[in-house]
Order: sequence, then C-alpha cells, then structure tokens
Amino acid sequence: MRLIEEYDPSLPATWVDPDQFMQVFLNLLKNAAEAAGEKGGTIRIRTFYDHGLRLRRPDGTGTGLPLQVEIIDDGPGLPAEIAGQVFEPFVSGRENGTGLGLALVSKIISDHDGWVSVESRPGKTKFRISLPVAPPDAPPRCAPRRAQ
Ligand SMILES: Nc1ncnc2c1ncn2[C@@H]1O[C@H](COP(=O)(O)OP(=O)(O)OP(=O)(O)O)[C@@H](O)[C@H]1O
Ligand SMILES: [Mg+2]
Repeated sequence: MRLIEEYDPSLPATWVDPDQFMQVFLNLLKNAAEAAGEKGGTIRIRTFYDHGLRLRRPDGTGTGLPLQVEIIDDGPGLPAEIAGQVFEPFVSGRENGTGLGLALVSKIISDHDGWVSVESRPGKTKFRISLPVAPPDAPPRCAPRRAQ
C-alpha cells in the first residue's frame, strides 16, 4: 500500500510507553491494510497540534489533549452494523478477526489519559489519537520521546 507521512516536526514531546504505542499503531495500520484488501490503497499518517481538545474527567478536572495523530485510509469504511461498537472487545467485521485490536488500542490510550475516536464513510476512515503534552517535571529517567 502507499503510505503518506505528514508529521509536524515542531510538536512538543508526549510521554508514553513505547512498546504499548508500537502496538497501538500496528493495530491501526493492520486494520487499514486489511480493509483495503487485495487492491491496496493509500494510508496517511498525520501528526499536528490542536489546542482546542480537552478531556473532561467525571470528577470535573480536565486535561488538554493537543497532540493529534491520525491514521486515514481510503478503504470501504467501517461495516455499518458494527460502526458504533468497534472499540468493544470481540466486535469484528472480518471473517477471522478476533475483535481485540481496537479494544486494546482504546485501553492503552485511556491508560495514557488520551482519547481515540473514529470517523468513517466509504472511501475515508480516520482514526484519531489525542494525547497530552509531557509534564515539564517528568523525571529524567522517563525522558519523553518526541511525538513525531
Ligand atoms: N480502517 C478500517 N476500515 C474498515 N473497517 C475497519 C477498520 N478498522 C477496523 N475496522 C472494522 O472494525 C473491526 C474491529 O477491529 P479490531 O481491530 O478491533 O478487530 P479485528 O481487526 O477484527 O481483529 P484483531 O485486530 O483482533 O485481529 C474490524 O473487524 C473491521 O470490521
Ligand atoms: Mg484489527
């Protein structure tokens, strides 16, 4: 498949578990590739800053989630009958799918105080991950990685 990478090089750092995030992006890219099927297609990966996004917690506190990562494919879109439940475990629209990929994505992102959402129609499916900026006092041994 064709891969287009559009990374904002000026983004501030975020603070994540790199192994878990490797799993997140593998799951999303694998889904995009599987949706495209034999005929292939194009996947775009974008990173950018959007200061408008906040996560509001039930206790009333909130965190800004300005770092955005989007994975966009031009495949057929989420099957309509499961579109509202794709982040639930064991929900799959594929013959041999276990339906665990997106449930794990959702769990990892929420463990990092982030947010994941999807917008989908035939020809365009966009998964967006929104993350907080690393705290300025993050201990040096957990040095933040650049979100690029
Ligand atoms: N980019 C996409 N385009 C179209 N449909 C998608 C896309 N990503 C996910 N889906 C749909 O959502 C379902 C759930 O995805 P999820 O990754 O959770 O499970 P799976 O891919 O079926 O199985 P697993 O990832 O556990 O092997 C998929 O089966 C597929 O029907
Ligand atoms: Mg999957």
